[in-house]
Order: sequence, then structure tokens, then C-alpha cells
Amino acid sequence: MLSKEQIEEVLKEVTYPGFTKSIVDFGFVKAVESSADGVYVEIDISSSAPEVENELKVDITKKIQLLGVKRVDVVIKKPKMPQQSSSQGKNIVPHVKNFVMVSSGKGGVGKSTTTVNLAIALAMQGKKVGLLDADIYGPNIPRMMGVEGKQPEITGNKVKPLLSHGVEIMSMGSLMEEGQSLVWRGAMIMKAIQQLLQDILWDELDVLIIDMPPGTGDAQLTLAQSVPVTVGICVTTPQKVALDDTERSLDMFKKLHIPIAGIVENMSGFISPDTGKEYDIFGKGTTAPLAKKFDTIVLAEIPIEPAIREGGDNGKPVVFHNPDSLTARKYQEAAEKLWAKIEDINEKGGVDNDAIQPTTPAGVSACSTK
Ligand SMILES: Nc1ncnc2c1ncn2[C@@H]1O[C@H](COP(=O)(O)OP(=O)(O)O)[C@@H](O)[C@H]1O
Ligand SMILES: [Mg+2]
Repeated sequence: MLSKEQIEEVLKEVTYPGFTKSIVDFGFVKAVESSADGVYVEIDISSSAPEVENELKVDITKKIQLLGVKRVDVVIKKPKMPQQSSSQGKNIVPHVKNFVMVSSGKGGVGKSTTTVNLAIALAMQGKKVGLLDADIYGPNIPRMMGVEGKQPEITGNKVKPLLSHGVEIMSMGSLMEEGQSLVWRGAMIMKAIQQLLQDILWDELDVLIIDMPPGTGDAQLTLAQSVPVTVGICVTTPQKVALDDTERSLDMFKKLHIPIAGIVENMSGFISPDTGKEYDIFGKGTTAPLAKKFDTIVLAEIPIEPAIREGGDNGKPVVFHNPDSLTARKYQEAAEKLWAKIEDINEKGGVDNDAIQPTTPAGVSACSTK
């Protein structure tokens, strides 16, 4: 008979599909029992697609069987809903009503620029908005929002968010020394993200928009397990080479069972400030087929515009400081579409993705082999 420790060692080799960390590191393993009859493993994941669960069950079963165990029971516990979507998962900041995860396949595509302008646009439309800069590798939201160097107020062991352009902001950038570079390991990322959610005195918010690190890493999974992510947005550029990364990003949302609100195609054409003539630099419109494939929409096509970069560098976002520009109107429109999607999902009770059906009855599912 195997000891509990031996089984836990094996489980440390089981990574969550599509991510680098093990289910043990993510804290998903809730119980391990070993008896003469076999091994019982209980997993608790609040957000995942059925394919992911099956993959996990097969992987865990195989690895434990390799140690000579004949019968392995893997039970995946889920909240009550038969059709599980991330937007029904647990919420460690219950006074925030909706969460938007902004992701991109790679860095430098304008993820932060988009996040900032969408957050301000929603605030201008009367929503109570928070903006969380969870890009722990390159937190540049404070600069873009014009609060760089401002120290947040600390009360007890909680931190008050900064306020700018009608939006509550918190960033690792405001909590770290300037220029300090940290080597983040998995466990630290998890802790940092949970602290940014829990130890910040967020007001009652209609929506918290979260600027994620680029790619599909552990931060994304941590977030999806900590709060019920209402929708995801993917920011991309129209180069053909960016499409694979974007697809991976969209696929990640599917794996985490997060409804996709849409894609923002950034740097989509260049409008010359002198002549108003439009130049197609990266190849416009490549995102639309991808949106179709993932049954979602293109929220906006934002051109390359010097005013956008300047607004970012100077902490004067274009949607606020240049509200009549074409770009500002596009951000406003994208924010409206985003909000419509959030309302739609809330009306349906968080269930969005009809295509993904659970393979087992509601609640507990088990897999046993003999
Ligand atoms: N549509 C745009 N037009 C001009 N400059 C842009 C545009 N979008 C982003 N930028 C600039 O490109 C750089 C990278 O954008 P950023 O939002 O920081 O990307 P990411 O967060 O994806 O790394 C910034 O200097 C930003 O001001
Ligand atoms: Mg960024």
C-alpha cells in the first residue's frame, strides 16, 4: 500500500493542462486517501472545461497506476451548477460585481493601452470601475493613468487604491520600488494576484478590469480560480504571425470556461495625421475570421495613432483627453459592446457557452479503473 506522501509526490508531476504548474502547487488537491482497495484523490477546481477535467483524471489515474495501484478513484468537486462557467466560481472580493480579464498572446500589442482606455470609457458611461494591473512583469498602468510615483495610502494592513480619470487603480508598479525587477516564481505570482484582489480596499465596483501578463501562464489560472471572471477580452495586432498567439489566448479562455466578450484589433492601419489618408501597415482585418471561429466579435479596430502613444506616455489617455477623436469613439463603442455582453451573461446567470457540455452529471464525477 502506498503512503499519502508517495501519492502526493506523484500528484506534483500532474500539471494543469496548458499551464506549467502542478495541481498540488495550485492548491487543487483537497484529499488523498490510500487503502488496500486502492487510491482516492479529490480535486477542487472552481473553473474548468469538461475536457480539462477528463484530461486531469486520465493523467492522475495513469501516474498512480504506474506505482502498481489497481484501482484509482478521482473525484472532481465543482460548485452546484450543472453547466459550470467561470462566472459562477468563487469570489474572494464579493463586493466587486463583474471581472474582465484582458489578455494578449504576447507583449507590446497594446494590451495596457486598451485596458486603460476601456476602463475610462466605462467610467465615462457611468459605471463604477476598478483597474487592476496584474502584469507583474511589466506594470505600466500607473504611468498610463498619470499616477506614476504616487504612493497609495495604507490603512492597517490594507491599501487604498489610487483614483484617476474616475477609475480606481492598483498596480504592482505602485507597490514595488521604481525600477525594481523581481524574479517571480509561480507561488509568488499566485500570492501577489490574490493580495492585489483581497488586500486592496476596492469600493463596491460594477466592474474590475484586469490587465494580465501576456501569454497564457499561471497568473491567468490563478485569477480564474480566485474570482468569477465574467468575460475575457483578447488584444492583438493584425500581423499574420500574431494569429497563433491570439488563438492560444482565446483557447485559454475556453479552457478556463471564461466567456469571450471579443477581440480588440490594435494597430489596425495607420491614419496619417497630415493627410488623413489611411495606410494598411500590418494588414488590417485579419482578426475577424478568428473571432468567427471562436464565436465572438471584434470589439474594435484601433489604428496606429501617435496621439495614443503620447497619451500613454504622458498619462493622458486619449479616450478622456481627446474624447471627440475617432479613436476615442471607437473605445467608447467597444466599451458599450463589452457592457452589453456582461449584462447578457448576468441575465443568463453566468452560463454562456452552450457548446461545452459536461460529460458527467452535475456535481461530483468519478473515474475508476480496475
Ligand atoms: N493604437 C496605437 N497607436 C499608437 N501607439 C500605440 C497604440 N497602441 C499601443 N501603442 C503604444 O505601443 C506601446 C505598447 O503598448 P502597451 O499598451 O504598453 O502594450 P502591452 O501592454 O501589450 O505590452 C506603448 O508605447 C503604447 O503607447
Ligand atoms: Mg502592458
